[in-house]
Amino acid sequence: MKQKNIVVIGAGVAGLTTAFLLSKRSGYKIVVAAKHMPGDYDIEYASPWAGANYMPVGVRGTQAAEWEKATWGPLENLAKNNPDAARPADGETEDCEIRSRSKDLGSATADWFSELLSPNPWFKDVVPNVKFRVIPSDQLAPGIDSATSFTSVCINTAIYLPWLVSQCLKNGVIFKRKVFKHILDTTKPDVHPSGQTDLVINCTGLMASQLGGVEDKSVFPARGQIVIVRNETGGKMLDVSGTDDADDEACYIMTRAAGGGTILGGSYQKGNCESQFDPNLANRIMRRAIDMCPELTRGRKGIEQLDIVRHAVGLRPVREGGTRVERERLENIWVVHNYGHGGAGYQSSYGCAETAIDLVEEAFQKLAHL
Ligand SMILES: Cc1cc2nc3c(=O)[nH]c(=O)nc-3n(C[C@H](O)[C@H](O)[C@H](O)COP(=O)(O)OP(=O)(O)OC[C@H]3O[C@@H](n4cnc5c(N)ncnc54)[C@H](O)[C@@H]3O)c2cc1C
Ligand SMILES: *[C@@H]1O[C@H](CO)[C@@H](O)[C@H](O)[C@H]1NC(C)=O
Ligand SMILES: *[C@@H]1O[C@H](CO)[C@@H](O)[C@H](O)[C@H]1NC(C)=O
Repeated sequence: MKQKNIVVIGAGVAGLTTAFLLSKRSGYKIVVAAKHMPGDYDIEYASPWAGANYMPVGVRGTQAAEWEKATWGPLENLAKNNPDAARPADGETEDCEIRSRSKDLGSATADWFSELLSPNPWFKDVVPNVKFRVIPSDQLAPGIDSATSFTSVCINTAIYLPWLVSQCLKNGVIFKRKVFKHILDTTKPDVHPSGQTDLVINCTGLMASQLGGVEDKSVFPARGQIVIVRNETGGKMLDVSGTDDADDEACYIMTRAAGGGTILGGSYQKGNCESQFDPNLANRIMRRAIDMCPELTRGRKGIEQLDIVRHAVGLRPVREGGTRVERERLENIWVVHNYGHGGAGYQSSYGCAETAIDLVEEAFQKLAHL
């Protein structure tokens, strides 16, 4: 069969996972071309800034929930069997606790987390290895009205993104730095070694809002500011439905594997593109984290007890209507889109990539019948 020449635009978790899964199939020659690559830290590149853990937010019955459901198995397998890729602090899977306050109902954070905060979320039943339980009311932390706990994983993005690149390289994928102004520029002869591109996979994240030929104006940023500290919590992940400081501020803690530090979050500031960290917000993030999790500073009070690695800001590529995994025929080329994952790019990565690959295979079947 004729070799199929593929260009994947974007080397975030979406582009890399799609390229990795496609590279396991025969018949494809794949180039990943992107402005930013693993190792870069830039406000236009969301993936390095993520926690990144598996805390499903897709609402029951939606495609988003299906993608997250399909991603649990691969992530659990990585955590258990591929310590070189993703390993939670305790070597297996991490415990996480989701805390809910009735007063947060309707806030930006609580809306984003609506499924996660539910005492009866879909992932309770469909993800068999998640040890889901509702925490008895006499064991709730002060100010908390309800809480659940389950087993999850946390990915150290500084290890995982390069791991995806090396898996792709092993399978013959080519990586190139390229900045595209228009999606059809990917068909220029200097992009693919064959001199020809049969199909483009668009994994441009937030920049999808600017790429000529796509210009999806329904993609917008939800700014996430975090603090990475050296202090540890014993591998526990915690998440609360909201804060008393602002509607679009969040409070969460996660421990990255393999010396990746502890992530203190955060915020969910829609439409805000500020790349520099806000020192006042940083102080509030640290104070809230210590209040929620005194183990972080071994019971000592005050944010100066924390040993800061760095402050960081990333932009979640949110799309009204949800992540777009679709096929489109532009002039004489197929485009398969996989962008707009918002705050769920890792926890939906395998599900979305599998759907994208189904669309790729179908496109070539259609071409074969032309
Ligand atoms: C603070 C924070 C915490 C998060 N926590 C989690 C979490 O715990 N769990 C989770 O699942 N998700 C989390 N996320 C969300 C996750 O980071 C994103 O959903 C995911 O990284 C999006 O990946 P992407 O590949 O679509 O985009 P990106 O990582 O932004 O990659 C886009 C790629 O496209 C390239 N590109 C764009 N335009 C062009 C162009 N014109 N030409 C060439 N290349 C181009 C870029 O250079 C880049 O390589 C978090 C995000 C933030 C900010
Ligand atoms: C990728 O998709 C986005 C959203 O539709 C679009 O704006 C962008 O132009 C596309 N990129 C390419 C290279 O087609
Ligand atoms: C915070 O972490 C640093 C680095 O591990 C450690 O030296 C310090 O004692 C910790 N602080 C507290 C209060 O636990």
